[in-house]
Amino acid sequence: MKRIITYGTFDLLHYGHINLLKRAKELGDYLIVALSEDEFNEKCKNKKCYFSYYERKQLLQSIRYVDLVIPEKCWEQKVEDIKLYKIDVFAMGSDWKGKFDFMSDHCEVVYFPRTKEISTTQIKDDFKKADLKKEWANV
Ligand code: CTP
Repeated sequence: MKRIITYGTFDLLHYGHINLLKRAKELGDYLIVALSEDEFNEKCKNKKCYFSYYERKQLLQSIRYVDLVIPEKCWEQKVEDIKLYKIDVFAMGSDWKGKFDFMSDHCEVVYFPRTKEISTTQIKDDFKKADLKKEWANV
């Protein structure tokens, strides 16, 4: 069995996330998502999530490509995770390109091109725009 792991926040799950998860799963048989905990997001990634860890986890568990969701608590846990879960491939979007090359001492490292023109930040920014808010208020 070939096992893949990916890390991320996956807030306001969108089609860019789904593409990433689909491509990652296609690399093998079993996909683990290490999902950033709320405290880790706030303290280390400077991100405030709309959905809580538990809500984001539930959404990910409903995706057919995802076999297991584990918590991401700190930057340093990766090597331990790779050993513990016997990971073959470490997969991330290209916004992280080069940042995890050191993981190639432990497993294969793959970076996928990001899906264009979509991000959680983009969704949040769009909804902040006053005219868009008005538009949605009439739905
Ligand atoms: N991702 C992707 N294509 C996108 C958005 C995200 O491939 N358009 C990938 C990222 O590269 C990462 C994973 O999805 O491997 C989780 O990314 P995350 O940071 O949670 O999503 P973003 O939408 O980029 O969120 P933010 O704007 O908060 O950074």
